[in-house]
Amino acid sequence: MTPEAPEASGAGHPAGLFITFEGGDGVGKTTQSALLEEWLAARGRTVVRTREPGGSEVGVLIRDIVLHHRGEVTPRAEALLYAADRAHHIETVVRPALERGDVVIQDRYLDSSVAYQGAGRVLGREEVRDLSLWATGHLLPDLTVLLDLDPSAARKRLDADDKPFDRLESEQSAFHDSVRTEYLALADAEPDRFLVLDASRVAADLATDIQGRVQSILDADAADGAVGSAD
Ligand code: TYD
Repeated sequence: MTPEAPEASGAGHPAGLFITFEGGDGVGKTTQSALLEEWLAARGRTVVRTREPGGSEVGVLIRDIVLHHRGEVTPRAEALLYAADRAHHIETVVRPALERGDVVIQDRYLDSSVAYQGAGRVLGREEVRDLSLWATGHLLPDLTVLLDLDPSAARKRLDADDKPFDRLESEQSAFHDSVRTEYLALADAEPDRFLVLDASRVAADLATDIQGRVQSILDADAADGAVGSAD
């Protein structure tokens, strides 16, 4: 893999805005994605809501293997399956949307791979991150919202849902604890990209905080545009 600098947030990638939601299973990512979509749409933005794994036709097939295959999936194979899903999804869905100037709101991206495949299992976080960066042509989000919650509280929410657990949800609690720890370390390492929120708070309050952060990114973009057009 050729070491290239990741595409810095905002720089390099086209007009749109790329926002990802991260966190353990059951922390409320879907609820917050939906609320943010509604808020942005009300402000006249075109929003593409998507997810990994499974945000493309090929991805749906890969999702079925990684989440529902009953036998063993070796760690490297698992990392490659998520990376394959991501490569196809970014090229066919996300980049075209960003090029049109849309806002992409995505449930899970490369930080999920680092947290789950890198920290939770036997692979090193650097190699997992590099694999995803290679797969996506080094695309990083403008904003990553990390919904942080104690895995035992998240588990209670999942139990209340009454859906059967997938392969990763069925992992032991030590696995989910290390996923959480890894996410927090990722956020510490890139404070400009991450917004970390306590997901045990009321959904409407979380939504307000997320909107505030997105608004400041939009304001900064607008100011940049104004500077650019004055030239
Ligand atoms: P998700 O779609 O959030 O599950 P659900 O729709 O059932 O809530 O994520 C599926 C699982 O895949 C989740 O346990 C995390 C895991 N995952 C990884 O291990 N690595 C990855 O790169 C991604 C994107 C997800």
